[in-house]
Amino acid sequence: MTDISNELERYLQSTVKSKALWEEAKQYLPGGDSRNSIFWAPYPIFVDHAAGCHVVDSDGVDRLDFIGTMTTLVLGHSPKPVVDAVNDQMTKGVVYNAPNAHQVHLAKLLCERIPSFELVRFTNSGTEATLNTIRAARAVTGKSKIAKVEGGYHGSHDQVSVSVRVNPAKAGERSHPDAMPATEGLGEGTLDQVVVIPFNETAIAQDTLEAHKDELAAVIIEPMLGSVGMLPATYEFLAMLREFTTANKIILIFDEVISYRASSGGTQELYGITPDMTSLGKIIGGGFSIGAFGGSKDIMDLYDPTAPGGPRVAHAGTFNANPVTMVAGAATLEQLTPQVYRKLAEMTEYLRAGIKQVGADLEIPVKVTGLGSLFGIHFTGEELVGYRDIAAEDSAFRHQVFLGLLNEGILMASNLVGAVSTEIGEAEIDTFAAALRRVLERALTPSD
Ligand SMILES: Cc1ncc(COP(=O)(O)O)c(C=O)c1O
Repeated sequence: MTDISNELERYLQSTVKSKALWEEAKQYLPGGDSRNSIFWAPYPIFVDHAAGCHVVDSDGVDRLDFIGTMTTLVLGHSPKPVVDAVNDQMTKGVVYNAPNAHQVHLAKLLCERIPSFELVRFTNSGTEATLNTIRAARAVTGKSKIAKVEGGYHGSHDQVSVSVRVNPAKAGERSHPDAMPATEGLGEGTLDQVVVIPFNETAIAQDTLEAHKDELAAVIIEPMLGSVGMLPATYEFLAMLREFTTANKIILIFDEVISYRASSGGTQELYGITPDMTSLGKIIGGGFSIGAFGGSKDIMDLYDPTAPGGPRVAHAGTFNANPVTMVAGAATLEQLTPQVYRKLAEMTEYLRAGIKQVGADLEIPVKVTGLGSLFGIHFTGEELVGYRDIAAEDSAFRHQVFLGLLNEGILMASNLVGAVSTEIGEAEIDTFAAALRRVLERALTPSD
């Protein structure tokens, strides 16, 4: 079914200016950008401007945005409450060498909403947030190793750059995955520090964890594999992790950088399972660079500079909790009322049903995963349990569909994960479903 030439030809024809920009960009930036995670072949579109749920590229092509900067823009592009708050703050200074009240406001909003948060600290990225949860866990437990699931993405620092998008053929058995580097350049011994378990395979994972229980400082997990496919954990799997970590005095970390979008209390609220620490990012900065990590007072007091002897864990960052990001984040969260979350979830269910209908009509097996306003499209009839099932999907066909959707005026992440913003309604979703239908019909039509 995979013959990408038709979609590729259309794409090349409609992205002439993006291609020229990319050629120029490559003279100054390796590969023409600063973010490998959003590269796609043959080259990405260059965005000229965006508003609401529309993104317009340098060639003037207007696309519906069904990813919102890797799930960040829950209110769409440049929502008025955020723009007003930021404009107002910009006239009062962008960043200070002393605390500001806006971070107290955002911290309060988060602590009120997130079950595991008694205290919170801000960073500039989700990467720094997960780094700090792991560091705090090591300080609390006096142990060093961490456990993570195969396919879990937690940012780009060394400790979590292990067993992310691995090639299953080279990564050991499904039940006992090897720790694989996600990049070259990791420090010596990094892999030895990480115990890798299979996602959603409760009994097998528990056995592996038990074997390492005396060495583990933390178990870190996305309660829903986010960028890798929007695949939720089972309740049973998370409950096992909670029980195991409590019994063995190991810190359970939920990385909700993406999954926090699913509800106002994150997936920890949806599942009713409270971790010891949580890392956040993306939506809580209203489109500005942010991360946050938090947990119980006991743990977060490690960071307290007024503690006798000073803070046990260092934490600095020139732009941490800068007032522009803080007001943007607070303005965003204030828009996210229970009613808005309900509507987002309803719209995303409508989208899931529309996608499944297209698959059923064209007799193409399709599954739509995700929680709340997050979704992932998978063209498979097989059960999706963990990373290996996602890795087994036909990546060439997925790329064909992704390029086809771009050609039809839809922007998603290149691995077909997406997010619905408050700017997206039934009309946009119907447009999405009709676009997908045309793309799949083209894929089913043999080219000459
Ligand atoms: C679950 C998860 N954790 C951490 C990160 C890292 O966040 P950032 O890109 O802000 O460093 C990401 C980014 O996509 C993520 O999806």
